[in-house]
Amino acid sequence: MIGWPLLNRKKREDRKRVVLITGASTGLGLALVKELSQSGKFHVIATARGSSLARFGATGITESSDLWIRPLNVLLKSDRDSVIEEANLKLGGIDVLINNAGYCLRGVVEQVNETERLKQIDTNFRAPMALIRGVLPHMRKKRSGHIINISSVGGMMAMPTMSIYSASKFALEGATEALWYEVRPWKIKVCLIQPGFINSDSFKNVELTRESRKSLQDKNNPYYYHYSSMAPFIAKMMRLSPSTPEKIARKIIKVINSNKPPLRVPVTVDAYFFGLIRKLLPRKLYHAIMYYSLPRVFRWGEDEHYFMDAEYERRDAEKELTEQKLPLPEPNSISRPSKLEWSGKSGLSILNEIGSFHNNKGA
Ligand SMILES: NC(=O)c1ccc[n+]([C@@H]2O[C@H](COP(=O)([O-])OP(=O)(O)OC[C@H]3O[C@@H](n4cnc5c(N)ncnc54)[C@H](OP(=O)(O)O)[C@@H]3O)[C@@H](O)[C@H]2O)c1
Repeated sequence: MIGWPLLNRKKREDRKRVVLITGASTGLGLALVKELSQSGKFHVIATARGSSLARFGATGITESSDLWIRPLNVLLKSDRDSVIEEANLKLGGIDVLINNAGYCLRGVVEQVNETERLKQIDTNFRAPMALIRGVLPHMRKKRSGHIINISSVGGMMAMPTMSIYSASKFALEGATEALWYEVRPWKIKVCLIQPGFINSDSFKNVELTRESRKSLQDKNNPYYYHYSSMAPFIAKMMRLSPSTPEKIARKIIKVINSNKPPLRVPVTVDAYFFGLIRKLLPRKLYHAIMYYSLPRVFRWGEDEHYFMDAEYERRDAEKELTEQKLPLPEPNSISRPSKLEWSGKSGLSILNEIGSFHNNKGA
């Protein structure tokens, strides 16, 4: 008789924890699948949209007794229900849910339509919540489990041109914080993983809104410089980031193995840094610093992009000639771009604001 409880405990301990990962065919999700499988301690359910499933094979990931590959478009209730039901029936439920699927919509507030807005919020916020509702009954019954939501630095601070992305991650952060309190009585752990810039190709998956796509191609659009400065800046920061998906995946595994993981886990250097300055600096100062650190922000809101471009080019050329001690060209030798209805006042006032520009009356 004494042997049974011990045997049952051993059985429980032998059972590999079941981890479900969404959006697992690329980036961080894929790195998590590889690292978790290699550890040999987990039963991994790697999921991706039907159209992306072939990527697993292409990266050498094939099904085994401890690795399932399943279609899961997080926006579809039928997909969500089917994966959860199968795991409940055949594996005794999901122990760790990693809500990783997500994407970044690029568009200023004025240039996101309702369809684009809803899809972003549905994917990054409502779908993870639906999956959480799907796995919680089982976790509560077992009085254990771990919910891990992949948030973002964009969930603690907003960035221009990423308004709705930030809104979706702020929402995820808020609801997850509430969940942390709610499921604590059942010993269910809840974590928010906060990556900043990840060194991966995922910037290529950024989705432009219809209007933002047009704005990027039209220098006369008032938001042209918002996009044309932010996009390469973000791509560059991602390229320079020392944080790879593999490194972050290993940090997440530590979180999974921890008995008392914190609610918020920054996983990249910039996430620590931004978390710290947001906590320490007075808000007014913080926002001013952030604003003036934006790439080429002095150009945002310029009235006449074509004309101002020519002016900046002229300044650069002048600077170069001065440095080489060569004579400067006559003021009228650089022709004014034709696509302009420039009054002369707006551009000059902007230049005065920026300072350092010499008199421009002749233009
Ligand atoms: N990359 C960064 O610098 C960064 C920074 C902060 C936070 N994050 C967050 O980290 C998570 C992972 O991103 P990542 O960097 O690994 O980017 P990623 O390589 O673009 O991966 C995102 C994954 O989400 C999947 N996905 C999108 N919509 C889906 C849907 N409706 N159903 C199922 N899967 C869907 C994509 O699948 P498809 O291939 O089928 O589209 C893709 O596999 C995201 O939540 C992202 O917001 C990333």
